[in-house]
Amino acid sequence: LVAGVDSSTQSTKVVVCDRATGEIVRSGRAPHPDGTEVHPDRWWEAFGAATTDGLLDGVAAISVGGQQHGMVALDESGEIVRDALLWNDTRSAQASRDLVDELGSAAWVDRTGSVPVPSFTVTKVRWLAEHEPENAQRVAQVVLPHDWLTGQILKQGNAFERHVTDRGDASGTGYFSPADGTYLPDIQRLAFGREFGTPRVLGPSEPAGSTDGGMVVGPGTGDNAGAALGLGLRHGDVVVSLGTSGAVFADHSVPVKDPSGDVAGFASASGGHLPLMCTLNAARVLTAAAQLLGTDLAGLDQLALAAEPGAGGLTLLPYLDGERTPNLPEATGTLGGMTRANTTPENLARAAVEGMLANLVAGVDDLRDLGIPVDRVLLIGGASASAAVRAVAPGLFGVPVAIPEPGEYVGLGAARQAAWVLSGEQQPPSWPVRIETTLDPPADGRGAEVLARYAALLSAVHQH
Ligand code: XUL
Repeated sequence: LVAGVDSSTQSTKVVVCDRATGEIVRSGRAPHPDGTEVHPDRWWEAFGAATTDGLLDGVAAISVGGQQHGMVALDESGEIVRDALLWNDTRSAQASRDLVDELGSAAWVDRTGSVPVPSFTVTKVRWLAEHEPENAQRVAQVVLPHDWLTGQILKQGNAFERHVTDRGDASGTGYFSPADGTYLPDIQRLAFGREFGTPRVLGPSEPAGSTDGGMVVGPGTGDNAGAALGLGLRHGDVVVSLGTSGAVFADHSVPVKDPSGDVAGFASASGGHLPLMCTLNAARVLTAAAQLLGTDLAGLDQLALAAEPGAGGLTLLPYLDGERTPNLPEATGTLGGMTRANTTPENLARAAVEGMLANLVAGVDDLRDLGIPVDRVLLIGGASASAAVRAVAPGLFGVPVAIPEPGEYVGLGAARQAAWVLSGEQQPPSWPVRIETTLDPPADGRGAEVLARYAALLSAVHQH
């Protein structure tokens, strides 16, 4: 057996799989506090709660997939300096603008594959240096959420050497080159005024070590790279993940450099690359809309399905948590096109679904513009279960939308990595992925009208 962990923004999930087939034989989950800053001990407690009752009995190897970018700052003895600032924390908006001005966006893309937005660790270390100088002074090493959890599971040896990472997650720091596989000390100095320690970067199937009980621990990776591994992507597949974040990504063999900065040129967990666009507003837009309408998610689905495509001309820019792509950290949501006739609960529900998805269609278009083939969209994440999302998505994406069977793809990808570490083979084991249904786009062209209206409202409200 092998195990994979998904330590996400809201909970920790662990799947235990058959090493040969990838079939999930048992699983556990536990919540941890929600928000944009959290003490890493809460993740470790959630991991403990998710693995009680012998969940890991008989497990030969384990890997951790985790939310990307979070700044876990450690002092000389490996103690946590302050609560971790997470990917969805936008307090470093000014720091990110300053860093982009200081180096220039072309140089950022060239050196790191991405233009840093407030999610990136490099902007958080700048924020720390400027706003909490006493804490900054204590920082000896900065690791990512998955690095820290891997270190906790290993719990052996010196805290410094214990921390390892992989190319995929390291590329979300903003002080690492995904093309060369090396850290960039001059960028650390630019951001933080001095260098700080970083976890060792392991190869995609290189073991981090083993626990006292003899369980092999894999390098782990970021959650999106983990999902890509769990889905076993084919050429032409683009994943749209509707979780707390919205993410659009594809497996690619060469580094991707998007001069606009909308697509981050991350590395993948399988030795290649993972160009990725990420939004701060996805599944929770639907929760907020349901709350506003005094219903639950099933009720929202019913309302949205009762409306005509196009929501009677209502358009929602869904930036309820600020936004990352487009890069508008201080943005708020906007509802446009209201008239007395069209402002109904049904249209409002439909506009929420259309707006959330239109925000992600931009990511699919960005990937296509960068030369990445888009033959089908694989829709995953909590909100992919919504009947209204399934009804709207094919028309907006304009390509067949495949819905994999419900599954913990981040945890599954981490487990597949663990199986790969054990096998010592060149490639990860091939585990089948079952597609529940594939939905073809309608030929009515209504999607294009929704997208045009969305783009017009965006440029009317925000200059970016
Ligand atoms: C990706 C990103 C998010 C988090 C969510 O760049 O910031 O998808 O990884 O956990």
